[in-house]
Amino acid sequence: MLGEAYLKPRPEEPASVEVPPVYVCICHGVHEREVRGCIKAGARTEDAVGDACQAGTGCGTCLDRIADLLEAEYGAPATAASLAKPDLF
Ligand code: FES
Repeated sequence: MLGEAYLKPRPEEPASVEVPPVYVCICHGVHEREVRGCIKAGARTEDAVGDACQAGTGCGTCLDRIADLLEAEYGAPATAASLAKPDLF
């Protein structure tokens, strides 16, 4: 009977549900987790992220998302001036 299906106990839900990876860069199949890892490892610009994992080095569509991730980690976007090494001599 149709009503019986609603009366059956439901199977237990798994304790943790694996979240599918979110792609940032489709051209190179790079996930957000990987981009975040590059940023945490020291990449401070889109170019540095691209050097580290290739994200953003294809069509460029994902560069805004990479910039958002950089800004989320470091605050204001990095500029060439803010990344320049101090002139000691
Ligand atoms: S989607 Fe990242 S370079 Fe094309």
